[in-house]
Amino acid sequence: MASAVRIVLLTGGSSGIGAETARMLSLAGMKVYAGSRRGTVSKECEGNELIVPVVLDVNDQASVDTVVASILEKEGRIDAVVCNAGNGIAGAVEQTSVEEAKYQFETCFFGAHRVIRAVLPAMRAQHFGRIITISSVAATVPIPYQTFYSSAKAAVLIYTKALSLEVKGFGIQCCSILPGDTKTGFTAARKATAASEDTSSVYYETFRKSVGRMEHDEQNGMPASKIARAIVRQLQKRRMAATVTPRIDYKAINFLVRILPTRLMLWIVGLLYA
Ligand SMILES: NC(=O)c1ccc[n+]([C@@H]2O[C@H](COP(=O)([O-])OP(=O)(O)OC[C@H]3O[C@@H](n4cnc5c(N)ncnc54)[C@H](OP(=O)(O)O)[C@@H]3O)[C@@H](O)[C@H]2O)c1
Repeated sequence: MASAVRIVLLTGGSSGIGAETARMLSLAGMKVYAGSRRGTVSKECEGNELIVPVVLDVNDQASVDTVVASILEKEGRIDAVVCNAGNGIAGAVEQTSVEEAKYQFETCFFGAHRVIRAVLPAMRAQHFGRIITISSVAATVPIPYQTFYSSAKAAVLIYTKALSLEVKGFGIQCCSILPGDTKTGFTAARKATAASEDTSSVYYETFRKSVGRMEHDEQNGMPASKIARAIVRQLQKRRMAATVTPRIDYKAINFLVRILPTRLMLWIVGLLYA
């Protein structure tokens, strides 16, 4: 059956998972408005008539409202949003200021909320909508030194589940994708908190070792196409899954986190990262 989704607003379309998602959605015949602060698309997507690059900052309400209004004016509808824009900050909890923690939530959590809130009236009016958020395996596995990233992604996950209950009566479905380590520009874009640069700090050595290991795993992780394929597949379904964790090993990790006693789970995570 051909997908009912024709017009998609994708955030974070200039790089990594978003760039690959834009390409694959277009191959599936969907028209994608690919938003990012750079407002660019990858080389592979340049000149593709089904991919429209747009300048969009999910941290800025006016930018979100302008983009949503202009798509609605041109297309008359937005069938799906993929809230993928994200960034990472790293640092021990004690070495993360409230402002730095807020910045993490600003893009990963409130950024998604701004976009979703802006498209919901149109989706309700058309009695059709598909909302995909990009959470992370870090939403279920607590990652030390990326505590605020883990927390923001956990917030996105529970938000998406709760939202699905509020909007299902309006023909709107929600799905959260939980990627594990994926090789993208995310690693290079990650910022350390200011205080975590202090080489004399008691956290410094463990922080560097842990984050170094995480970065190594990301750069040796899945290709972005693995996550993009999962997103496209959900948008082609009549009924989306509530959550999707791509790749069998990450599915197993998510399952173990749910069934293991918390102390045992934390001990295992600590062996890896603390
Ligand atoms: N890579 C992984 O291992 C991994 C694992 C789990 C989950 N994820 C999640 O996957 C999503 C995509 O990340 P990625 O790995 O593909 O990283 P990436 O290559 O760094 O891409 C991040 C995208 O987000 C955009 N972005 C950042 N801040 C933005 C803002 N304020 N407004 C609009 N766009 C913004 C960036 O574009 P501009 O800089 O041009 O704005 C870029 O297109 C993120 O939500 C990330 O948390 C990644």
